[in-house]
Amino acid sequence: MKQVVVTRNGGPEVLEVRDVAVPEPGSGEVLIKVAAAGMNYADIMQRDGLYPNGPTPPFGAGFEVAGTIDSVGAGVTGWKAGDAVMAFCQNGYSEYVTAPAGMLLPKPSELSFEQASAIPCQYLTAYHALLTLGRLKAGQTVLVQAAAGGLGTMMVQIARNVGATVIGTCSSADKCALIRDLGCQFPVNYTAEDLGARVREITVGKGCDLIIESVGGDIFEHSLHCLKSRGMLVTLGVASKNVPSISSVELLANNWTVAGFHLMGYTADMEAMGHALADLKGWLAEGKLTVIVRHTFPLDQAAEAQRQISDRKTVGKVVLTTG
Ligand SMILES: NC(=O)c1ccc[n+]([C@@H]2O[C@H](COP(=O)([O-])OP(=O)(O)OC[C@H]3O[C@@H](n4cnc5c(N)ncnc54)[C@H](OP(=O)(O)O)[C@@H]3O)[C@@H](O)[C@H]2O)c1
Repeated sequence: MKQVVVTRNGGPEVLEVRDVAVPEPGSGEVLIKVAAAGMNYADIMQRDGLYPNGPTPPFGAGFEVAGTIDSVGAGVTGWKAGDAVMAFCQNGYSEYVTAPAGMLLPKPSELSFEQASAIPCQYLTAYHALLTLGRLKAGQTVLVQAAAGGLGTMMVQIARNVGATVIGTCSSADKCALIRDLGCQFPVNYTAEDLGARVREITVGKGCDLIIESVGGDIFEHSLHCLKSRGMLVTLGVASKNVPSISSVELLANNWTVAGFHLMGYTADMEAMGHALADLKGWLAEGKLTVIVRHTFPLDQAAEAQRQISDRKTVGKVVLTTG
């Protein structure tokens, strides 16, 4: 089978498609025939060697897939060959992957395999960052950075679904139009407009209750100053690769909370996961959540797909398909 391997840290050229044996599911695992491998910005950070505690090359790229169970290993109950699933896994950019049965979710019938590949990482990150950690409520104002991306398009819809006012940033007029269509009341092109001035205007000088920050660098700095007193900024990524620093005195002087978020700290929280999956089911049934997929690539074009994500040319979820 084909598998995309990060041969060494570096640019997209370090990705190599290799022929490897189809893995055997171990005890407690299933073997999944991958239909769609979800791509994430974290894949690029891992490839570059910038991901905290990331794997050492050579390693298989990717960690979320959707597909069909091919076979189950010893001791697996509740799943059978033929079940359509979504999963966290290793070596996601592959034709087959093994995954622990505890890392599987049933694929909702409303979603294609391509759309479903966004649920394990991007939907759950958006949900837990906004609602489990951020405790966003109706009537509050949230600022979402990189709002036209895979994670961002999920966040805009979830925030709108709970009745919040959404300010979303992105880097072009086309991206602004997309997030407006998804329910973002205030799209802001942060490469062309003064973010702080726009947020003051939108919030009538009050600032935001919650900010989800994934860009870093200057955008982090500008974001912090868009918080209201006792507001919270959740930092969950550094797409600019420019790691910001914060003054503790500035935090205490303004009653600001800055919180770090990493999804893996939430996957074992059964109560929070229960809420996330129940809301997903409800929103899909009511047509209040969709997964935008405009970019699909075959496995052997993984390098080109990552190049387009880094070059900020993509919107929504980017997917590798196995044909
Ligand atoms: N902590 C966690 O558990 C967790 C989980 C999932 C994702 N994340 C983070 O969330 C962010 C979004 O992830 P994603 O997979 O959905 O990616 P994405 O948003 O689809 O792509 C990244 C976006 O970041 C924006 N960006 C701003 N400055 C950039 C720069 N200098 N270079 C490249 N992109 C830049 C671009 O949007 P504009 O062109 O509109 O600015 C780009 O489209 C990433 O930072 C990722 O690491 C964290």
